[in-house]
Amino acid sequence: MAKKKVVLAYSGGLDTSVIIKWLMERDYEVICFMADVGQGADVEKSRRRALKIGATKCIVGDLKDEFIRDYAFRALKAGALYQGKYNLATSLSRPLIADAMLRVAKEENASAVSHGSTGKGNDQVRFEVTFQLKAPKLEVIVPVREWELTTRESEVDYAKKHKIPIEQTKKKLYSIDLNLWGISVESGKLEDPWVEPPKDTFISVVRPEVAPSKAEYVKVTFKKGIPAAINGKAHAPVKIVQKLNQIGSVHGVGRVDMVEDRLVGIKSREVYEAPASAILYAAHTALEELVLDRETRKYKKALGDRYSDLVYNGLWFTPLREAIDAFVDKTQEDVSGEVRLKLYKGSVTVAGRKSPASRYKIEMATYGEEDVFDQSMAKGFIEFWGMPYRQ
Ligand code: ARG
Repeated sequence: MAKKKVVLAYSGGLDTSVIIKWLMERDYEVICFMADVGQGADVEKSRRRALKIGATKCIVGDLKDEFIRDYAFRALKAGALYQGKYNLATSLSRPLIADAMLRVAKEENASAVSHGSTGKGNDQVRFEVTFQLKAPKLEVIVPVREWELTTRESEVDYAKKHKIPIEQTKKKLYSIDLNLWGISVESGKLEDPWVEPPKDTFISVVRPEVAPSKAEYVKVTFKKGIPAAINGKAHAPVKIVQKLNQIGSVHGVGRVDMVEDRLVGIKSREVYEAPASAILYAAHTALEELVLDRETRKYKKALGDRYSDLVYNGLWFTPLREAIDAFVDKTQEDVSGEVRLKLYKGSVTVAGRKSPASRYKIEMATYGEEDVFDQSMAKGFIEFWGMPYRQ
């Protein structure tokens, strides 16, 4: 009888390398799937490692464009920041990766899928809810939740015993997840929320202390809420993010240090790096301030918070997320224009904004000669405004 096939979300790291062997020992044929979401690691090297360990195939999917276009920029348009701070870089990548795995599973006629996320985190939920909603019949195997290799040392020993080529040592400093939209760093010394993030938690961004003492200005153009150009030059979405990551990281922009609430109830201390996203969120918000009317802004803000919860909690492929996207797209019809930002030693500040659809009326706002605001009307307005509350 042919072996059962399983598609494994493979990262090239210790956990998922050990998982290949573990699944093989349980008589599965393992097909690895590596998602390229712009993590910048040596994908080819990892691919060879997977095959060496015994995977029959290792398929690499370039998901960068889809990730930025259909996931990251949607969250940006919605103004979604989990608990007001985290841009959801890891959270957004999981449903995309899970969905791509399901495509591979179908092509390969696999009966199972597997991932290396732990039972304490959010990522397991994001993977498995996607599997559950889109391919309920597939078996889901999560070795980390059930195996006996509970410590890093035991995993390294297992790897050595089975001649699994690994780079890691027994002591791992941090757990790091990378993609184009952001880097998430947790565990190790960061587990003490009183400890300032050590130097070695700066992965791509320079420390503000050593950033240039001369500010840099960058201009971002938006079309219907989507970033379309930098300093007047049009680029595709992925390129925009790559360029802004590069510009922002030099100035130490985009670091977030927070204690967040995981879905499974644990509080967790996390450090994030997302320079492009920090610039784009600041710019997008500034443009909306100029263009959106007061009530739409307020309503959209609440939906953006809701959106961040949905994404964080693994509910990407749900009707509410799609409905909020439709609402957000309606609000973005006029969110076109330019924002000028100043990057300086870890900060990003809006220096200027303009839009053809601006609701800012200089003749209303000014205290100068062009003023057309009829101040005499204010008296009657205030009469009516306070009327409902008078005794
Ligand atoms: N706390 C973030 C989230 O839940 C990041 C998780 C990062 N994962 C990791 N393996 N370091 O989205």
